[in-house]
Amino acid sequence: MGRVFNAEGQPVRGARVELWQANAQGRYTHPSDTNPAPLDPNFEGFAVQSSDGEGRYRFKTVKPGAYPATGNWMRPPHLHFEITGKVNRVITQMYFPGEPLNDKDILLQNIRANREGLIAKVLPPTSDVEPDSLIVVWDIVLDKG
Ligand SMILES: [Fe+2]
Repeated sequence: MGRVFNAEGQPVRGARVELWQANAQGRYTHPSDTNPAPLDPNFEGFAVQSSDGEGRYRFKTVKPGAYPATGNWMRPPHLHFEITGKVNRVITQMYFPGEPLNDKDILLQNIRANREGLIAKVLPPTSDVEPDSLIVVWDIVLDKG
């Protein structure tokens, strides 16, 4: 969950927030994924919604597994996002804190400005979610919204 803001810190309402991700085993439900890890018949790995009047978005999902990229590069767990406001569109990835693979990820390490901004914060579950779940908080900034 999180909020979409513009660069002035105002909430962006009605932003299209699209998410796609691998399943818990690190496999995408997509024909071009060559990872031999098993598909999860109960998991599609895609969702889209609009931010609400206060810029909030919220998805319920599973934590994706790491998966092999090229050579010996393993992608750390991450979620892909495309966020479309009225003016701006951003395609990016959200990472989880404390993942050892983050330090070796070519894409994450090539981010020069605000790399930490791509890493979410993890909070304990609140009373409205399953007790063994985690709250992952990640805010998104669209320059002009
Ligand atoms: Fe990915």
